Amino acid sequence: PPPPPLPPSSSSPPPGSYFIGTKEDVVKARRVTRLLNGCRDVLVLYHQGQLHAMDKRCYHAGGELQFGDIEEFNGRLCMVCPWHKYKITLAEGEGLYQAVENPTIRPHRTQWRSKGVKQRIHKVTEVNGDVYVTLNDSAEAIESDNYQTERFRSVQQPR
Ligand code: FES
Repeated sequence: PPPPPLPPSSSSPPPGSYFIGTKEDVVKARRVTRLLNGCRDVLVLYHQGQLHAMDKRCYHAGGELQFGDIEEFNGRLCMVCPWHKYKITLAEGEGLYQAVENPTIRPHRTQWRSKGVKQRIHKVTEVNGDVYVTLNDSAEAIESDNYQTERFRSVQQPR
């Protein structure tokens, strides 16, 4: 019988992807920001053994997520925006919030809910010790797209 097909080669970066750096450097830096394709500000981060990539500017008002903390909420790892503490899941870009179950009952009991995907997440690939990002070019608008403008590239952390 013919030999089984080879698994997809991991020796070349995905077509259309962007080189970010060596994995060693990204792991050491933990957070790396890059302007990709001349128009997309992306944050690549390393956390608990995993690489993630997302739009750098928060979907709420353009906060710089490279300065946020990563915490777990309801079992999901989230970026916490440093500006107004919105929570964004690393894996999907969903906005999480705590909803009050029944406002008439005190003390209020809350549960975590999702607002849906708000932050554009990009794909990270490792090839031979190098890290590449493939931009998520889905045509569907995602709220974080609003902050991918020249105007916001120069907006800094409020003091
Ligand atoms: Fe991120 Fe407001 S800008 S929470």
